[in-house]
Amino acid sequence: MARTALVTGGSRGIGAAISKALRAEGYNVAATYAGNDEAAANFTDETGIATYKWNVADYDESKAGIEKVEAEIGPIDIVVANAGITKDAPFHKMTPEQWHQVIDTNLTGVFNTVHPVWPGMRERKFGRVIVISSINGQKGQFAQVNYAATKAGDLGIVKSLAQEGARAGITANAICPGYIATEMVMAVPEKVRDSIISQIPAGRLGEPEEIARCVAFLASEDSQFINGSTISANGAQFFA
Ligand SMILES: NC(=O)c1ccc[n+]([C@@H]2O[C@H](COP(=O)([O-])OP(=O)(O)OC[C@H]3O[C@@H](n4cnc5c(N)ncnc54)[C@H](OP(=O)(O)O)[C@@H]3O)[C@@H](O)[C@H]2O)c1
Repeated sequence: MARTALVTGGSRGIGAAISKALRAEGYNVAATYAGNDEAAANFTDETGIATYKWNVADYDESKAGIEKVEAEIGPIDIVVANAGITKDAPFHKMTPEQWHQVIDTNLTGVFNTVHPVWPGMRERKFGRVIVISSINGQKGQFAQVNYAATKAGDLGIVKSLAQEGARAGITANAICPGYIATEMVMAVPEKVRDSIISQIPAGRLGEPEEIARCVAFLASEDSQFINGSTISANGAQFFA
């Protein structure tokens, strides 16, 4: 029977590419989103992949949503914690609200997504936890104290989960994308985009599908001995 994969924020951007790549590998896929109903409906129409709406920052909503997915599609063996936001500001201007919104979504959201599926993975002696971190969690970034803290936190989460899950056949790994050609990055003025690209030795942005292919490998049986790792996918922009 095909395994089931859950991709948070799986209806847009990098997450959408991940959902599609996992579907192409033969997994049953559930993609979640926060509020953009139109994008989610279009994604389901286009791909046939089921979408579910809940806020990853809320533990009870996440747990209830995951129970619904498991009842409708099957036990979740692969979880991709991809949902993330930015609320950038230089530190002296960053508000406690901007700090908490990003921590709640990007960091607590990973706990809320993985914690409810962990007992089932332990029981079935198989699991794949894949967290989408960021180059900015590795190197820090001006105006992203909140975001960089969450993305560095992701690396601590997977290194710890890897040690707890290894004997139960569960692996936990992080991917740190560099700048990827998503709507958000493509929407910035061309001048800013050019200056971003000038800092990437590869001379281009990454494609969402390039991150999706890393996820597909980590989700597979072949990746069993890769556990607690951080995969950098950034066109040689930064070496951790
Ligand atoms: N783009 C890059 O260059 C880049 C680089 C490094 C790392 N990353 C990381 O990669 C991940 C995906 O980024 P992206 O650029 O593809 O993002 P995106 O295009 O903005 O899509 C974000 C997705 O996450 C969902 N989401 C946001 N907040 C949520 C919440 N509270 N609860 C549930 N779902 C939520 C969104 O739902 P709605 O559609 O409803 O809004 C959407 O599906 C993020 O973790 C980001 O930090 C991105």
